[in-house]
Amino acid sequence: ISLKQFNTFGIDVKAKHFTSISNIDDLKHVLALKDYPKKLILGGGSNILLTKDLEMLVMHLNIKGISIVSENADFVTVKAHAGENWHDFVQWCLARDFGGLENLSLIPGNVGTAPIQNIGAYGVELKDRFVSCEAISLETGTFKTFLKAACHFGYRNSIFKNEAKGKYIITSVTFRLTKRHHKINIGYGSISEKLDTMAITKPTIQDVAKAVIDIRENKLPNPQIIGNSGSFFKNPVISKKHFQKLSESFNNIPSYPASDTEVKVPAGWLIEKAGFKGKHFGNYGVHKNQALVLVNYGNASGTDILKLSKLIQSTVKRLFDISLEAEVNIL
Ligand code: EPU
Repeated sequence: ISLKQFNTFGIDVKAKHFTSISNIDDLKHVLALKDYPKKLILGGGSNILLTKDLEMLVMHLNIKGISIVSENADFVTVKAHAGENWHDFVQWCLARDFGGLENLSLIPGNVGTAPIQNIGAYGVELKDRFVSCEAISLETGTFKTFLKAACHFGYRNSIFKNEAKGKYIITSVTFRLTKRHHKINIGYGSISEKLDTMAITKPTIQDVAKAVIDIRENKLPNPQIIGNSGSFFKNPVISKKHFQKLSESFNNIPSYPASDTEVKVPAGWLIEKAGFKGKHFGNYGVHKNQALVLVNYGNASGTDILKLSKLIQSTVKRLFDISLEAEVNIL
């Protein structure tokens, strides 16, 4: 079948074998099938660039369900299954006035894949609200609970991108959220400006979500209209020395603190400076409002987009001596 509707880039590659899984029993059953030694687990398909037809078994993880595990007057622990759409889950929390995920509104993808890259936006990362996740081992078929410390979360990183890569399927994720005394987090970028324009002085978590949604809708292309996978690259971390040197030639280069000796530079700025922002290459290109996002305007192939990403990488390397690392998984 075509995977076009299962990846937000909207790339039309075919899977020879495909199954959609909606409960744990089916998952166990499919994992035990000996005929398919190689498997690809697809969640929301929002962080993948498919470049070829797939011979392996594609498993679309569609296990749903959200439940309250425990609560007291101040906090609630909520468990969501892997196949829940991330934004729908955030909305579910906001409707009950559970706070903590509002800054992560409108991030594409599903709950089950969110921990893999420790999704983050507007000053909050998944790890800040994460308690644990349950995962099934592809080798043994047994369940394991990963507590937060075991996940080795970092910027767009976790154990599931490293030692545990390809070894587990996350089936549910548990979060600790606030029921009152919400911590409003509007320090990042343009959130407080957006709230000003909304004439809101004492924002609720729902207001923060509205501001984030508004900012994202203005800046990031809606994958249902223009195929994309959000940020294609990670923001690179470079030494302060390197940054100092770059500042001599580019006096307005932005940066965020990363460590005592390093800073993080927005890849979007580098790509824009390199001249790619808003560029069309036939039916694919670089988004006009956010240079970090590569887009598929029509029937682009995964290899077209991969080629463009490599051109961007080599140009940024030549101009700034910085190696951009893809954030999206390339297959
Ligand atoms: N910038 C430019 N030109 C651009 C884009 C950005 O100059 O075309 C510069 C500007 O200086 C701007 C700064 O980059 O102030 C930061 O831009 P933005 O707030 O859009 O954030 P970002 O660093 O480009 C990261 C995440 C996004 C997340 C935003 C907001 C990564 C790889 N990306 O982007 O995440 O929404 O911060 O928190 O860390 C995603 O992962 O798919 C994603 C969209």
